Amino acid sequence: MLKLPGFIDPHVHVREPGQTHKEDWDTVTQAALAGGVTTILAMPNTKPPIFDEATLNLALTAAKQKARCDYAQFLGAGPDNAVGDGSRRPLHEIADKAAGLKMYLDSTFGELRLDDMTLWMPHFINFPKSSPIVLHSESRTMAAGILFAAIYDRPVHIAHVSLKEEILLIKAAKEKGIKVTCEVCPHHLFLTSPSPLTPLPQGEGNHAANPTSPFGRGQGEGRLEVRPRLATQEDVDTLWANMDVIDCFATDHAPHTLEEKDSDNPPPGFPGLETLLPLLLTAVSESRLTIDDIIHKSVINPRKIFHLPEQPETWIEVDEDSKYEIKAANQFTRCGWTPFEGWQVKGRVRRVVLRGEVAFDDGKVLAEKGYGRNVRA
Ligand code: NCD
Ligand code: ZN
Repeated sequence: MLKLPGFIDPHVHVREPGQTHKEDWDTVTQAALAGGVTTILAMPNTKPPIFDEATLNLALTAAKQKARCDYAQFLGAGPDNAVGDGSRRPLHEIADKAAGLKMYLDSTFGELRLDDMTLWMPHFINFPKSSPIVLHSESRTMAAGILFAAIYDRPVHIAHVSLKEEILLIKAAKEKGIKVTCEVCPHHLFLTSPSPLTPLPQGEGNHAANPTSPFGRGQGEGRLEVRPRLATQEDVDTLWANMDVIDCFATDHAPHTLEEKDSDNPPPGFPGLETLLPLLLTAVSESRLTIDDIIHKSVINPRKIFHLPEQPETWIEVDEDSKYEIKAANQFTRCGWTPFEGWQVKGRVRRVVLRGEVAFDDGKVLAEKGYGRNVRA
């Protein structure tokens, strides 16, 4: 039995308030504990989005009642919330109550996109440098985000890096001393985009690395939708080759129901909390990753980047040798599917102890609703 510190997932879409048919603070924190994650940082693209004190309190009230693991909630950058008005405090005045500031610079699920760079400026100027700014920014927009970090001399954290050009630019920026950190999601390390030129027969795998993948073109294509999109084998290989540039693993757990994913207008996003650890441990068993990599990228670095407190008497117990098949039917997430259905993995979370209490044991969540703490309170 391997004993590890509780994981931190800095990128989780909880869906509450507003879309609890996909997930809520109860189910998402059950999924987290089942995945060995004891702290989640919640994204603000809910309904309504979390963008001021009133909406922050809406999310935190639900979390306080329902969360079974520890958490903090991000604020979303909007076109006019960097500065206050008569009825609303500016974001920087409530920054210490939040995980940090999330800025959507590229299009994605939700309403928080900031197109014009003049809308980025007041956030970079006003948001405290001690509190992280996380960017959803892809490709050249990411380069612009890194330039902003340099100009305003403040840390930025790049969410879900997926491309060769992105990881290589982040490496170069770090070498220049620019305050940039980044995260990579398991789906961008373990899945590639199916080639549009070589349609696969129904039910066959979508990518070379794992022929048991459930995606077949024409069938459930909406299940492939995710932002950033799945990339090429060359992108994936470059991420693996630059493991030392990756600061954190983050799931970008973005649950949508199977019905929504298989509809004519499928929303982008994959669930990921319960597949993170088995995928990473399987990579360890194949000597593609070390336990030390996992501890740094899932515990030590996110704790440092997001200024998270230590969790006393908190650990997870993992059976490294347990082999099994990933099945959506065994998951706690409400969304009812996983892009890794049928994958053979090695490494199972047996037990999670959170602040001295057994929170998960042998397939059962034992932590009560409301046991989770807001780490910014
Ligand atoms: C996310 C979602 O569904 O909220 N979807 C996704 O594909 N990653 C939005 C996001 O993180 O951009
Ligand atoms: Zn996300």
